[in-house]
Amino acid sequence: MSVSDLQKRLAGEAAALRVEPGMVVGLGTGSTAAWFVKALAARGLTDLRCVPTSEKTADLARELGLPLTTLEDVSRIDLTVDGADEVGPGLALIKGGGAALLREKLVWEASDRCLVIADAAKVVPVLGAFPLPIEVVAFGHKATANRIMDVLIDHEIAMPARLRQADRGVVRTDGGNVIYDAKCQAIHDPVRLADDLKLITGVVEHGLFLDLADEAIIGGADGVELLTP
Ligand code: A5P
Repeated sequence: MSVSDLQKRLAGEAAALRVEPGMVVGLGTGSTAAWFVKALAARGLTDLRCVPTSEKTADLARELGLPLTTLEDVSRIDLTVDGADEVGPGLALIKGGGAALLREKLVWEASDRCLVIADAAKVVPVLGAFPLPIEVVAFGHKATANRIMDVLIDHEIAMPARLRQADRGVVRTDGGNVIYDAKCQAIHDPVRLADDLKLITGVVEHGLFLDLADEAIIGGADGVELLTP
């Protein structure tokens, strides 16, 4: 196992210990969240109800016997545990590398407590080295991308956002949308960028998770470290 995988696993296992019987739990998406899901299933807690943030996580949780529910069926979620692509100052995050940002944000916002789990390399002094995922409605997405570019230029970001592609062609999210990844390098005003992107018709969501994480568990060389905003 690679060093980063080991650190992800440590963080996921530590997070699973935070879950109590009877809780409604939000299950994140990605390789770190998968460690959490496996560790949670291994605890065999009674009376859990889990809200997955993607079809992929739903499949894993089902396979491991975790009881699933939906955001429509629960009024609130007690605790959501999820990974991140970058963890910046104040626990501002970039998420969406796994294309699940919209469902993730819906689940996070419905949660009483959000716990982010990551390996140490994800902690950064300034957000933006990881390309910022922006989820866009497929209809007219090239026109929307032009308007995203205008916003990026206003934020002194010169690189155009790139349509995410995989081996099988253009990536579609669980909601059928496409993703543009913006190479920002450094996001100096995440709050203003988040607001400006949301104002564009056709932008469904972006991967800036600001003021949402209550705590982070970071896996490192010497075990886990806890961070708060
Ligand atoms: C999924 O859309 C993402 O938000 C993931 O949580 C994020 O990309 C972290 O993924 P890893 O845990 O695989 O690094």
